[in-house]
Amino acid sequence: MTNPRPLRLGVNIDHVATIRNARGGDHPDPVRAAEIVAAVGGDGITAHLREDRRHIRDEDLARIQAATDLPLNLEMAATEEMLAIALRHSPHAACIVPEKREEVTTEGGLDAAGLHNRLAPIVARLSDAGIRVSLFIEPSEHQLEAARKLGAPVVEFHTGEYAHASGEEQARQLERIAQMAAHAVDLGIEPHAGHGLTYDNVQPVAAIPQLAELNIGHYLIGEAVFVGLETAVRRMRQLMDEARA
Ligand code: PXP
Repeated sequence: MTNPRPLRLGVNIDHVATIRNARGGDHPDPVRAAEIVAAVGGDGITAHLREDRRHIRDEDLARIQAATDLPLNLEMAATEEMLAIALRHSPHAACIVPEKREEVTTEGGLDAAGLHNRLAPIVARLSDAGIRVSLFIEPSEHQLEAARKLGAPVVEFHTGEYAHASGEEQARQLERIAQMAAHAVDLGIEPHAGHGLTYDNVQPVAAIPQLAELNIGHYLIGEAVFVGLETAVRRMRQLMDEARA
């Protein structure tokens, strides 16, 4: 049986930089991680330049872009500062995420509906510059409709609620992602997904035929400590392929 559509794996290398920054030096270098991801057949590099620069830093972006031909998906808050940086670096894609200074990680999806007026000029300026805009949203009809009104070609569904649930609740969350992925395609929007995905929970998400890309970071970098990044990425790729077969 042929695959319904290919499922790309974007590897988020932020937490290589987190470890580097813990000592303030230049090791481990996220650029080396990007090179390994490229060498083992990853489809893209994802990096989140946070306002507080807790992991990826400005200078990392150009270095990552120079080191590999893989598309760079820049995760960014909807601010003028980040917009200027995105326009300067011109990544393949920009994924607009909510950002709270005190949060440990991106806790939920962007309120694309409530923030329409703030997002509209940012989406327009990124799109005019040829950057593919993605909105990191909860899998809900309301947020998808807001993404459509904003003219975003891509949405990424926040899979955190699915990842943190278990049993029936996890099945319910999965169904929600599957329904919204199908709905996104009906609206002409390419659906992606990510957050909290692991070897144990990736397959039901990867099996959703409409999803075009998964972005996975923390778990892969954690596994890399034990088995190496190359092995960790290969294993995740294999699980995704099995789920799609
Ligand atoms: N996608 C987006 C938009 C993210 O912000 C993140 C990180 O929070 C991820 C994917 C990857 O999540 P994780 O590190 O939990 O795999």
